[in-house]
Amino acid sequence: MSRKCRILLIDDHDATRETIAEVLEDTGHTVSPAENMARALEHLEANDFDLILTDLKLPDGDGMRIMEKSKSLYPATPIVMITGHGSIENAIEATKLGAYEYLTKPVDLNKLRVIVANALHLVQLERKVVRASALEALIGQSAKMAQVREQIRQVAQTDATVLIQGESGTGKELVANAIQSLSRRAGESFVKVNVAALTKELIESELFGHEKGAFSGAIRQRKGRFELADGGTIFLDEIGEMRLDLQVKLLRTLQEQEIDRVGGTETIPVDCRVIAATNRDLKAKVQAGEFREDLYFRLNVFRIAIPPLRERPEDVPLLAGHFLHRFAARYETEKQFSDEALRHLQAYDWPGNARELENAVESSFVRAPGSLIEPAMLPEEISGLSPVPPADSPGLAPGLTIEQLEKQYIYAELARFDGNKTHAAKSLGIGLKTLYRKLEAYES
Ligand SMILES: Nc1ncnc2c1ncn2[C@@H]1O[C@H](COP(=O)(O)OP(=O)(O)OP(=O)(O)O)[C@@H](O)[C@H]1O
Ligand SMILES: [Mg+2]
Repeated sequence: MSRKCRILLIDDHDATRETIAEVLEDTGHTVSPAENMARALEHLEANDFDLILTDLKLPDGDGMRIMEKSKSLYPATPIVMITGHGSIENAIEATKLGAYEYLTKPVDLNKLRVIVANALHLVQLERKVVRASALEALIGQSAKMAQVREQIRQVAQTDATVLIQGESGTGKELVANAIQSLSRRAGESFVKVNVAALTKELIESELFGHEKGAFSGAIRQRKGRFELADGGTIFLDEIGEMRLDLQVKLLRTLQEQEIDRVGGTETIPVDCRVIAATNRDLKAKVQAGEFREDLYFRLNVFRIAIPPLRERPEDVPLLAGHFLHRFAARYETEKQFSDEALRHLQAYDWPGNARELENAVESSFVRAPGSLIEPAMLPEEISGLSPVPPADSPGLAPGLTIEQLEKQYIYAELARFDGNKTHAAKSLGIGLKTLYRKLEAYES
């Protein structure tokens, strides 16, 4: 595999860790080593990896716990368990629970190379599928979401730096994924960094890399995220939390397209497209002296502002339906919201946006004893509201033109079928093509 991949390697035995890291780095991959579970979880919170290799037994926990965490954050990342002879049984058990493979100690290095190459190949295939549908993953028929989609299409064709702004849970990461997947860099590396999750000590070397001996603990040279993203895209999430001194360094990188590793003397050219996201009002941060104005201008070349969910209530039923499908698959059972419950969902103002809705759908899904989710099963802050009035008699709303009425009715039917256009078209008695044409006209 030609692409550089990011591998998280967890083993408390120094020599094992060193040997494996060396083999993998020789193959061109970048390894983040961790000697215990706490360190590993820290890494997982901050970055996504292409592959995880973990010892089954760790001083402060076990590989299963790491697998759990990783599966919840990055379901597609394969995990290889490393195990001593005594615990092969557990390793086999782990593969039944979702680990990709296991290796026994002492690790056969040839076998290691093969397993890693296969796992990474699999990841690449899966990601291709996921990325191809990234724009479709963005649910919402509101005019505001249509505009966001249009901006994504536009900017994806360029190499411009993008700043995605939106309240927490509005889908900033989904938008970043969509831009990357539609861009000419889609097949190249896509490196995500959560600026807020990296510790003060780690962040500089994570982003820019370091030379051997740059600081105590820098036992070998390490490439930073920018270098890993060379030729591809880097996503700087929570950019508003970046330290001022690093903002200077970032600005230089954006302007000059080059980086300096920590402790390094040479300048290294990097070619990567930057997508940044924040839920902060960066302009206000600039005014407060917490964010550099020059960096703000440099990032703000193309801005996508994702509107909060309360400004597009018509997207609520669609999103709710989308999440219902997801949980139906996960819990292997189908459930529906009652009309009344849906009207409660639409009446709520969603301070936590789509993520809060996702959580509300899941908790009510789990709480509903039967297949119908009633208002009482919704979180209290939502069930306690008066629902929006029923929309089942749009014909009676006074002052609407036939066209407006048709539009409302079409969206209502779409929502009823959880966004499934084939079903909606059938129920409306029109062809699928006609439905698409109408939707396009509404959105333009
Ligand atoms: N338009 C959408 N269509 C489908 N799912 C969405 C949409 N918007 C958000 N989601 C889902 O809601 C959750 C939150 O989205 P995401 O992580 O992209 O938000 P965010 O803006 O990055 O949030 P935060 O500021 O908290 O990091 C995810 O599970 C995502 O899949
Ligand atoms: Mg996010």
